[in-house]
Amino acid sequence: MRPSPGETHRPRVPAPAGRSPRERPWSGAPGGAPLADAGAAPLAGPCAAHHPDELPLLSIAIAGGKGGIGKTNLAANLAIGMSDLGRRVLLLDGDLSLANVDLLLGLAPRHTLHDVVTGRRRMEEIVLAGPAGVRILPAASGIEEMADLDEVRRERLLRSLARVTGDRDVLIIDTAPGIQAQNLRLARAADEILVVTTPEPPAFADAYATLKVLSAHALARPPRLVVTMARDRGEARRVSERIGRVARRFLGLDLELCGVIPRDAAVARAVRRQQPFVRAYPDSPAAEAIRDLARRLLDPPERPRRRARPAALQAA
Ligand SMILES: Nc1ncnc2c1ncn2[C@@H]1O[C@H](COP(=O)(O)OP(=O)(O)OP(=O)(O)O)[C@@H](O)[C@H]1O
Ligand SMILES: [Mg+2]
Repeated sequence: MRPSPGETHRPRVPAPAGRSPRERPWSGAPGGAPLADAGAAPLAGPCAAHHPDELPLLSIAIAGGKGGIGKTNLAANLAIGMSDLGRRVLLLDGDLSLANVDLLLGLAPRHTLHDVVTGRRRMEEIVLAGPAGVRILPAASGIEEMADLDEVRRERLLRSLARVTGDRDVLIIDTAPGIQAQNLRLARAADEILVVTTPEPPAFADAYATLKVLSAHALARPPRLVVTMARDRGEARRVSERIGRVARRFLGLDLELCGVIPRDAAVARAVRRQQPFVRAYPDSPAAEAIRDLARRLLDPPERPRRRARPAALQAA
């Protein structure tokens, strides 16, 4: 998490409240066990996702520079957690060339986003039915051209998402490790970016690098932090405070700790069984943490899908 040499304190100008449709290419969619942590206070209050009123769909990207820190497990299990709260969820495997979502959920896709990019299939033809009614857009694995799509194809892919988000409440986007333009373009397109780190220095150095690259663009709101593989909440808080200090000083970002997923052997066991841990081990601390995060992100839980028109207009 070392700022680059010569980096100075440069508070950012606040990002504009809204974004152009280009930033959210799917926005034209029709229709619409507590942590084993004695003594540590729970995360305070809700962490409600920023959900612009004019959009029926809430999109959440899971990002984080380092590989193997639990992003895909977070994305897949959070999708199920939100579905269990009554949301209609679409999960996009944004690790476009090294797909993992299908493996974690024990699915065997016949067609993937690669078929969409190459024009062989339409977006709606590749959607898979996953656990708890979650719909999944699977990616390909081992197809090099998907690792670095040109901008035209990337934009086409994002725009064609509108074909499958129309009846969904939430879009969750898992992203690949690294800070390549492709990953960050996917992340930036979301209403809410959850940057993931573990308590280990290489992971939080990469999380900081991700925040740095993300914050070079106008964002609707600052990304928020999820600490995975934490020994306890105290450890997660210390990591969060450490990144938070640097992010505030060098990027002008106020970083909020939004979720803590404990280090839990149930996660690896579920991965080996190719089942989401919220289903395979619903009583595990990791599953409890996912349910807590889903609730906090969706607070208030009863958000209307569309803003009601003011009474005066209705009467008119
Ligand atoms: N909370 C956790 N507790 C213990 N182990 C975990 C936890 N989360 C993830 N793991 C372990 O880390 C492995 C990698 O997880 P995952 O695939 O979700 O990471 P990733 O960040 O998506 O990786 P990549 O960057 O390669 O896509 C899992 O197979 C599991 O063994
Ligand atoms: Mg992954």
